[in-house]
Amino acid sequence: MNTMREATEIRKLRLAILISGSGTNLQALIDRVQAGDLAAEIVVVAADRADAFGLKRADQAGIPHYVIDYAGYLGLTAETLADKHLPVDLVELEQRQKILKHPERAVRLQQLARLVAAEQELIAALELHRPDAVCLAGFMRLVTPYFLSHYNTAEEMRVLNIHPALLPAFPGRHGYEDTFAYGCKWGGVTVHFVDEGEDTGPVIAQAVYPIWPQDDVAAIRRRGLQLEYEIYAQCISWLAAGQIKMIRTSAGRKRVVISDPTYRSIMRDWLRQSLG
Ligand code: GRF
Repeated sequence: MNTMREATEIRKLRLAILISGSGTNLQALIDRVQAGDLAAEIVVVAADRADAFGLKRADQAGIPHYVIDYAGYLGLTAETLADKHLPVDLVELEQRQKILKHPERAVRLQQLARLVAAEQELIAALELHRPDAVCLAGFMRLVTPYFLSHYNTAEEMRVLNIHPALLPAFPGRHGYEDTFAYGCKWGGVTVHFVDEGEDTGPVIAQAVYPIWPQDDVAAIRRRGLQLEYEIYAQCISWLAAGQIKMIRTSAGRKRVVISDPTYRSIMRDWLRQSLG
């Protein structure tokens, strides 16, 4: 009997969550997992700084957590870097990456080397817990093609990010501020797969919220965050259920298609929620 039940149970998706700050998205996922609302298990949390409040949330939930001292890695001297035997061909990696914009190639190579050194430690920590997918949730660091190649294959992308704007509008670190400063009348949030660019990967889900005349940035952030929590959890459910298909457009771009029969009603719920 037991064996049959085990065989028919859907395997839970093993998630690694990367954070830098308060970790309210992490908390929203923890809450859903604990309530049994998400076919996933958060197996590891990692932060790029020791004072990320989200680490306390992980601790409280009994989730193994790690700090990768990015500031330390990014401050490494060229000599120390040269002594580290990085597991990559930096020149080849530099040709693939689209995140570092410094005009001098030598500088980009150094920046890449520092990031790879940090990512080497990050991957080692995550791999102790064998995640199926990695969710960036307010992780304020660029990830290189070295990191991505551990999780993405030609067919499957396994690194997700939540972005606080309606991509491709307002990529970068200040989605809410940029949306507000532009004078947008609708703002949005996006979950996308991570590729070699900054916030350029295939979009999985988006939700929009109205911006009212009396709003300020704090008000739209509050509204947007509530949607972030909903859409991130939904994307993880779709991933767990195998309902995310990737197709190629004629222009060669990867495009996500969701095969959930309740898709329209989910979209309607998000819109209703944001209109209040
Ligand atoms: C969120 O707005 C997320 O979209 C962005 O960083 C913020 C993280 O917030 N990438 P929290 O740490 O989850 O509270």
